[in-house]
Amino acid sequence: MVLIGEGLQYKVYAEGDWVRKEPKSREEMIEMATNWYDSRAKAEENVDMAIERRSRSLERIQEKDLPSFIFGNIRIDDGTVYQDRLVPVHNKLESLSDLEEKKQIIDDYVDLLETLWSYGIGDTIYNFTLNNGYDDEGRMVQLDFGEVVFDKKKVLEAIEEKRWENKRSLNEDISRSLRKYAVDSMEEKLTKEKVEKLWRENC
Ligand SMILES: Nc1ncnc2c1ncn2[C@@H]1O[C@H](COP(=O)(O)OP(=O)(O)O)[C@@H](O)[C@H]1O
Ligand SMILES: [Mg+2]
Repeated sequence: MVLIGEGLQYKVYAEGDWVRKEPKSREEMIEMATNWYDSRAKAEENVDMAIERRSRSLERIQEKDLPSFIFGNIRIDDGTVYQDRLVPVHNKLESLSDLEEKKQIIDDYVDLLETLWSYGIGDTIYNFTLNNGYDDEGRMVQLDFGEVVFDKKKVLEAIEEKRWENKRSLNEDISRSLRKYAVDSMEEKLTKEKVEKLWRENC
């Protein structure tokens, strides 16, 4: 098994057309989080919240009656998660040179957020270059399931703050021209009114 990626919560190993996501220990997570926060106490606090979100979101996603491709057909065995192997957005972007094709990625991500809202799920991290990917049918997938939220209020707050504007995906991972397209279309399409219209609590 080859390590192909990691985030705060999981180490990701690939095997053929699927991946194994091994939950990181609290210590491993703190080690990563200390790079982002100015004190160890702050890092620990955030890691403890991330550990809670990790187990709660897996439980909630499994309860929901949604098309399983949306989270890459996850299968869970004793804390370890198996998922289809996807093409992460940052890899997809590297393979494209045409701006119009890259704009389609932004459109696909916005469409996916709307679909998630309709199942009472929000991605308020907005790091789609790292946390989203394409499956072999060309569908955009939420590959990072560990940080999604199930609380409409949190989604509305994130929209109010236009939280995507400060995120790594928009500021470090894409060109200025694509950033402009993304900022404009996210501001236009990610609205509180749309959340209110699409959000379904119990499904
Ligand atoms: N199903 C997958 N297929 C291919 N690469 C993946 C897959 N899941 C994760 N990765 C890679 O591993 C990285 C970390 O995965 P992620 O699910 O975001 O972990 P974390 O929840 O710890 O942030 C991703 O940014 C991506 O590069
Ligand atoms: Mg991630």
